[in-house]
Amino acid sequence: MRYPLPVLFICGLAFAVPSPSGHVVFERRQVEPHGWVQSRRLEGDFMLPMRFGLIQNNLDHLDDMLMAVSHPDSAGYSKHWSATDLVEKFKPTTQTIEEVVRWLVESGIPHDRLALSINRGWIHFNATTAEVEELLKTEYYVFTHEDSGVEQITRMEKHIDLIMPTVHFNHVPSPMVQRKRTGGLGALESQPGPHRVEEDVTVIPTLAKCDMLITMECLRALYNIDHTPVATEKNSFGIVEFTPQTYVGSDLDLFFENFSSTQVGTRPQLVSIDGGELQTDPSKQGFKYAAESNLDLQYAMGLTNPQTITLLQTGDDVIGGSFNTWIDAVDKSYCPLNDPVLDPVYPDPSGYNHPPSCGIISPPKVVSISYGQDEASVTTRYANRQCNEYAKLGMMGTSVFYSSGDYGVAGNYGNCLFTHCPTGKIFNPSFPSGCPYVTSVGATQINNGSTVHDPESACQRIIYSGGGFSNIFSVPKYQSAAVHTFMTDQTPPYSSSLYSNDGKSRGFPDVSANGANYVIAIGGKFATVYGTSASSPVFASMISLINDARLAQGKNSVGFINPTLYSDKFTSAFNDITTGGNPGCGTKGFNATIGWDPVTGLGTPKFRELLAQFLSLP
Ligand SMILES: *[C@@H]1O[C@H](CO)[C@@H](O)[C@H](O)[C@H]1NC(C)=O
Ligand SMILES: *[C@@H]1O[C@H](CO)[C@@H](O)[C@H](O)[C@H]1NC(C)=O
Ligand SMILES: *[C@@H]1O[C@H](CO)[C@@H](O)[C@H](O)[C@H]1NC(C)=O
Ligand SMILES: *[C@@H]1O[C@H](CO)[C@@H](O)[C@H](O)[C@H]1NC(C)=O
Repeated sequence: MRYPLPVLFICGLAFAVPSPSGHVVFERRQVEPHGWVQSRRLEGDFMLPMRFGLIQNNLDHLDDMLMAVSHPDSAGYSKHWSATDLVEKFKPTTQTIEEVVRWLVESGIPHDRLALSINRGWIHFNATTAEVEELLKTEYYVFTHEDSGVEQITRMEKHIDLIMPTVHFNHVPSPMVQRKRTGGLGALESQPGPHRVEEDVTVIPTLAKCDMLITMECLRALYNIDHTPVATEKNSFGIVEFTPQTYVGSDLDLFFENFSSTQVGTRPQLVSIDGGELQTDPSKQGFKYAAESNLDLQYAMGLTNPQTITLLQTGDDVIGGSFNTWIDAVDKSYCPLNDPVLDPVYPDPSGYNHPPSCGIISPPKVVSISYGQDEASVTTRYANRQCNEYAKLGMMGTSVFYSSGDYGVAGNYGNCLFTHCPTGKIFNPSFPSGCPYVTSVGATQINNGSTVHDPESACQRIIYSGGGFSNIFSVPKYQSAAVHTFMTDQTPPYSSSLYSNDGKSRGFPDVSANGANYVIAIGGKFATVYGTSASSPVFASMISLINDARLAQGKNSVGFINPTLYSDKFTSAFNDITTGGNPGCGTKGFNATIGWDPVTGLGTPKFRELLAQFLSLP
């Protein structure tokens, strides 16, 4: 089996690792993750639970099949797939299975030790480190987390490899790691949640102050949001949160009392994924644990009232969740793809000691996730598998929104990619925002002294809108003209040593929405928060309202919206943001410019136009 080599960016050179005859480098981290040090070679008799992911059938047609139901010019627009048809279409062929089994048996792993997963996606077996190192021509090492002492096994990707356990790092630190970190929110090594500035603010309910305090009233005026849901039974809208972060009911009520009085007492519908539950420990109900969930739910519930929000509360309180584990819950065929190194493994004897939550609900028609991780922390293979799954969710009619990050062209916590060169500070794009099958949402602000009727600029208060170009994913067809125009008309003054500047990489974000000065109820008080964490659920709320209007007319949900958003007809449905930028990594980052840009994407929505355009589609 031959696989494409990931591109390594080292001082501007892209090169492939030399490989001995008969082997190719299968996957490789771009950088060593921050905070982990290699401590020793893994013991030769250590038993490794090996899993070989089998190549799915028809993946080369995935993009075409998605476009057939998502492109506004396609005759099949919005004719989405059923889950059953999807699984059937992509399951590995018998020939693939036989070839891998033959190779393993010939390499000395007895046939009776091999097992095939139920969906035929994986071959499992247990083997000693020595056996696996021989099989894969690789070496396994133990890495230790500098702060917490937590250990993790990783493969030094000498040569070939197919497989789990892998070369990437667990970005789901246990709460042990969490407690050692400061400023972070939640179990997922994510964007560190919304940023707080003022606490105990007094809310003056007036549109005159939207440059200082954003409320739902401001957002409705800013984007002309004027639809009240009527088809709530047919519709669904999911918000994903990762335990230990959860919302606090009394804070929802405080928010609703002041801004949406009919909703007092209303709660999201809890879907517990892998033991996800609400916090009852009062010490875990303050800003650190509740700000993200409170923000997402207060605005999503308020803006789409009376739509019931589905809360996908992911992970137990001990090992938490990952992006793969929320996906598991909506697609049982994806479940066995979980990586025992990168993803939390259930049953968890120290917490939720039950099998993982696989396919426990059907995918909501819109899902918003205000979390992200640095793309450099995952391998190309891991990123591709997850990204393909978003395409499948799109084929089933689901729109997936991720916030683009809060550190401009830098990664979480402002980290940039370093190289061996002393001067290198490379832009650090976000994942899965760089996956072309999600809609990535950046942040804007109302400028000081401006009103909801004035143009916004890129967010430059407290946070900078995450944006840039993926080092893994190529520019998708639907975006190539937009990226080409940006690179030609506004050629950024940075060489390939800082970012993928060839105009052939996927750019993000796709769209944006206000991310500054949000008033939320938290800890029994009101505070203002900042971040693309706010932008994602707000943009997603508008798409959920559009789904509602379409469902009411007997049409289907909009599903994967990017090909539509980038099409000419939709240009008038956005406020183009042309001021501000997204600095980071010792640079000014990119500029918001006329047309699409890697700061605010296509711009902010004009809800009425967006609704009218989507209603005009079949
Ligand atoms: C590997 O070992 C574990 C623990 O002993 C066992 O539960 C599992 O079934 C084994 N897997 C295979 C494929 O034999
Ligand atoms: C919330 O509403 C109450 C009752 O109308 C009002 O007294 C209070 O000042 C409001 N809180 C804020 C922070 O504006
Ligand atoms: C905007 O207003 C805030 C609050 O009054 C102030 O702190 C800040 O300096 C102002 N920024 C600009 C650019 O005027
Ligand atoms: C942003 O715009 C300014 C003013 O036009 C220009 O000087 C600068 O080079 C631009 N920066 C980038 C990154 O394109």
